[in-house]
Amino acid sequence: MRVLLTGGTGMLGRAIREVWGSQPGVELLAPPRAELDLAHPPQIFDAVSRIRPEVILHAAAIADVDRCEANPDLAFRVNTVGTACLAAAAQRIGATLIFISTDYVFDGTKGTPYTEFDRPNPVNVYGWSKLQAEEYVRTLCPRHFVVRTAWLFAPWGQHFVTHTVERIRKGEPVGGIAQTSSPTFVLDLAQALLRLLEYPAYGLYHIANHGAVSRYEMARTILAMLGRDPEEAVRLSGISGRRAPRPDRSPLRNYVLELQGRDPMRPWTEALAECLERMGLRVRHLSS
Ligand SMILES: NC(=O)c1ccc[n+]([C@@H]2O[C@H](COP(=O)([O-])OP(=O)(O)OC[C@H]3O[C@@H](n4cnc5c(N)ncnc54)[C@H](OP(=O)(O)O)[C@@H]3O)[C@@H](O)[C@H]2O)c1
Repeated sequence: MRVLLTGGTGMLGRAIREVWGSQPGVELLAPPRAELDLAHPPQIFDAVSRIRPEVILHAAAIADVDRCEANPDLAFRVNTVGTACLAAAAQRIGATLIFISTDYVFDGTKGTPYTEFDRPNPVNVYGWSKLQAEEYVRTLCPRHFVVRTAWLFAPWGQHFVTHTVERIRKGEPVGGIAQTSSPTFVLDLAQALLRLLEYPAYGLYHIANHGAVSRYEMARTILAMLGRDPEEAVRLSGISGRRAPRPDRSPLRNYVLELQGRDPMRPWTEALAECLERMGLRVRHLSS
């Protein structure tokens, strides 16, 4: 199976390269942005017709929420119009498109975890740009999997887990806000995406590790797993310099996979323990 990966240098892209790249029978091609720039439609169509993949895994995006808020043209150009071109190019060669979307399509007011059947209502430019991209994928490329995930973490890259561990290492205070979602380990997601292709039940899927947690509770869990006192964590009321509003509570429920009887995801705490171990840290496994 020949696979074209966009965003191969990103946090999720690296996990896809690790998991999919070691899969027998998978030929993974991940052109750098210089060869496939989502802001340049002709490059998108050229790359897809040259590579002729059976599957396109579209993980590239402007994923920095505040950057999208500051520059909506860039967000809609790359995240929405770039995705639309990729969907059209996929349709032209009969490829299956897997598009990675986000919990930020929701406004966070539901109170319980969001399923695929809940109505999106983004509160920021990033969320809108991804929701409009979902719509293009649905209408332009019938063979699609739109996959919403949330709060990615990995043993590499810049995100809440690596920032928190770095602060603990430096002896700086750690903490988090009350914003709540479903932290998701990129290596679990990469495996789950592979399994999606088992059969062509195209459509919309939520794929996140199980559980809903706030940033503050996540910081407490990281402290406890590293043998520190969770009470060290500071409850923050906000983060300065943030331009974009966020949904307060946007955890995802993998409802369609549940209904299909094939939800492969585990609790976020188990995945976090594995992530910290892969970062070379000694982890205390907590009984939940
Ligand atoms: N991070 C999260 O918590 C989260 C949560 C939910 C959903 N998602 C979605 O998951 C996907 C992966 O996120 P991530 O955190 O792995 O992102 P990331 O680490 O920020 O990586 C983004 C990737 O997109 C590429 N890219 C950016 N602009 C591009 C352009 N104009 N043309 C081609 N490639 C471009 C980047 O390439 P360069 O290296 O060249 O910049 C990089 O490989 C995204 O679709 C994101 O919206 C992320």
